[in-house]
Amino acid sequence: MARQAKVVAEIAVAALTQRQAKAEHARLAEEVARHDRLYYQQDAPEISDAAYDALRGRLSGIEARFPELRTPESPTTTVGAAPARGFAKVRHGLPMLSLDNAFSEQDIADFVNRVRRFLARETDIADGTPIALVCEPKIDGLSLSIRYENGELVRAATRGDGSEGEDVTANLRTLADVPKKLKGRAPERLDVRGEVYMSRAEFLKLNERQAAAGDKVFANPRNSAAGSLRQLDPAITASRPLAFFAYAWGEAEPRLWKTQFEFLERLKGWGFKVNPEAKLARTLEEALAVYRDIGLRRARLPYDIDGIVYKVDRVDWQETLGFVSRSPRWAIAHKFPAERAQTILRGIAVQVGRTGALTPVADLEPVTVGGVVVSRATLHNADEIERLDVRPGDTVEIQRAGDVIPQVLRFVPEMRPPGAPPWRFPEKCPCELKTPVVREEDGVVRRCSGGLECPFQQVERLRYFVSRNAFDIEGLGGTHIENFWRDGLLKTPADLFRLKDKARELREREGWGEQSVRNLFEAIESRRSIALDRFINALGIPMIGESTAKALAREYGDADTWLAQMLQARDERKANDIPTKKEKAAVEIGPAYGRLCNVTDIGVTTADKIVTFFAEGHNVGIIRELIAEVEVQPFRAQRVASNSPFAGKTMVFTGTLASMSREEAEAKAESLGAKVTGSVSKKTDFVVVGADAGSKAKKAADLGVKTLTEDEWLQMSGS
Ligand code: IVH
Repeated sequence: MARQAKVVAEIAVAALTQRQAKAEHARLAEEVARHDRLYYQQDAPEISDAAYDALRGRLSGIEARFPELRTPESPTTTVGAAPARGFAKVRHGLPMLSLDNAFSEQDIADFVNRVRRFLARETDIADGTPIALVCEPKIDGLSLSIRYENGELVRAATRGDGSEGEDVTANLRTLADVPKKLKGRAPERLDVRGEVYMSRAEFLKLNERQAAAGDKVFANPRNSAAGSLRQLDPAITASRPLAFFAYAWGEAEPRLWKTQFEFLERLKGWGFKVNPEAKLARTLEEALAVYRDIGLRRARLPYDIDGIVYKVDRVDWQETLGFVSRSPRWAIAHKFPAERAQTILRGIAVQVGRTGALTPVADLEPVTVGGVVVSRATLHNADEIERLDVRPGDTVEIQRAGDVIPQVLRFVPEMRPPGAPPWRFPEKCPCELKTPVVREEDGVVRRCSGGLECPFQQVERLRYFVSRNAFDIEGLGGTHIENFWRDGLLKTPADLFRLKDKARELREREGWGEQSVRNLFEAIESRRSIALDRFINALGIPMIGESTAKALAREYGDADTWLAQMLQARDERKANDIPTKKEKAAVEIGPAYGRLCNVTDIGVTTADKIVTFFAEGHNVGIIRELIAEVEVQPFRAQRVASNSPFAGKTMVFTGTLASMSREEAEAKAESLGAKVTGSVSKKTDFVVVGADAGSKAKKAADLGVKTLTEDEWLQMSGS
């Protein structure tokens, strides 16, 4: 059976209903977090940076429209992923934050205007004052923070989740670009931040050596840099051609520079390599000229860059501007556009999803786009193909960006083979059963009518069943599922928990051995006990995703009650089965059906999908069989999004704190879910009062707003 690619049909953020937004938000947050782990902890990203940015952009877009969905756990408010095992953890003195992304020159003009407006409000700069920007290539590597005390290198840490990284001191000491001792006058305490990277030429050579030795080859220079630095044996790191560019500071006592550009000069003086392309632009126009110039020369630079970082040059302005959740207001990353390429559309395949929805996928002559070989691209649905009017044999333009898999943008008319016929959506499912394809009421989605009989759907459901948000069986990937299904080891979800009866058969399979079979069984056993909401989600009932599954779990409490209620709802609905929409209103609602319709997020349409699912005897059998194998834990109400006393609170900091800078304290408060504002009002929940506080402390007292001393703040924030 052909491997099925994941295709995400996307609705524009502006068109999402609140319910869709909630489900989509949950899905995206999980996905972004997963890609963060793959990228930061395992050095094994599955998607391109552009695709990642698109996911993240969509998540932020949804949060901008539905701010109630933003929680302290959202990946938009955190950076990276928690440290991996094997290295000691290091807390960064000041968090290592991230940069907002911009994609157009207009975005940069908006950025400069925002900066200017903010400064005009907070300082006395005159209208139209030029904002000088330092422009630095954005290196695609691994960011590090290196601590120097009295000029001596004492510790180096990866970014980790932004607050806590891994101690890679021993490994970093093996890099020639990193001075162990700073030259000249150095601050008493200084964190130097920058990027470890590998040049393209060294990356290719390293891969050749790795391949010759039968070792792991890396997907791209970034992964090879990260993988080389995160070696438990520093001797291996020493043998790898790693380089380092310094570009920022964390804590610095005393801070002897007034501008970013001056800091870059100091870095060179101390013995660091600073990117030679870094330029000081006095105006927006000059900054954009740097972007265009470097963009043209990008492919000829010896290392990969994915954009230009602009930083407000004046440090006093940086301090005034401060941070918003995970990124500074004073800097932005201007990404280079997604890469495009032309290739031949060999054909259009149709893939079957777990609910039978058919998705057309372009089968392409393999072509390299942005360093990755692409041979498939999504075509979304029949309407999209009609809109694009692409036909097999066409030369098409494709782009890697904005989606998990690449997109087809257009066909090249001059290249169309004469007489190429338009493509027609198949009328039969591509599976062996060749069941008829039906068009859904809304006309866009086409489905295989084979239901559970369709082998594609069976496999897709199993894949979904073991996936991360469902039973999360580690080590059991999609290809294994396909093979096990084909060979009859696995037909229904319950079979998974009976797989150990087939241990011998498994061990004899190619690619499986004693150890991997044992690991798989362990992974399966560890999931025999499962929370009700996960259980419901895993069943792959149409329209039931994570959040609706949770709502159902909350409503019904335990698996037996839930199942009994669903069956009753089904029977009640059946008794009233009235086929036309108009008559729906006249349906007499039974108690179980009514209860189902009243669950948060569920309306008549979803309720009907659910009861239809339970009307298929086969489905009920599968669930019963599964309940016999596993232990479904009753639903327990989850703790609120954050257990910090500051979550959801509005806070003001005033006066000087002895233990941390204002910026740091505000970033900390925001990371705990607080909203930090500049002035005290009745809506303020807490005012943290440092030394020499003035009118704000008084106003808090007048309004009866709760004030905290620095010690209380430290204690409550767990600092
Ligand atoms: S400054 C507070 N400068 O981009 C801002 N970052 O998305 C700190 N990066 O984590 C970052 N080149 O890994 C800065 N010249 C540069 C950079 C750069 C690459 C990376 C770095 C950072 C990420 C932010």
